[in-house]
Amino acid sequence: MLYSEKVMDHFMNPRNVGEIEDADGVGEVGNAKCGDIMRMYLKIDNNIITDVKFKTFGCGSAIASSSMATELIKGKSVDEALELTNKAVTEALDGLPAHKLHCSVLAEEAIKAALDDFYKKYPNGK
Ligand code: FES
Repeated sequence: MLYSEKVMDHFMNPRNVGEIEDADGVGEVGNAKCGDIMRMYLKIDNNIITDVKFKTFGCGSAIASSSMATELIKGKSVDEALELTNKAVTEALDGLPAHKLHCSVLAEEAIKAALDDFYKKYPNGK
């Protein structure tokens, strides 16, 4: 089996899909090669990520990676979320095929982009 059960689960039943209208940080990234696009929305209170949603126009691994990444940062502090790596996302998914690792990189980058946006809006935190 090319994909782990966890990848299949998060692809078929992705968690935290959608948008947050009054998001405190929004980040969008894309991969020029495959053309996939990922957008992350964060709601932050007292430097804790109280809500996170994503929209991914992309492959199954990108959807599974974004779903898992949102689960990993929900309820965490902004600092902890900044430390989330694509490796942690891949491990939580019980692995991805080598040619699909870039999909998990997209998830890491989307979260960092959303946190960047947050810091631009609220340089002293919120
Ligand atoms: Fe590009 Fe998955 S193939 S994000």
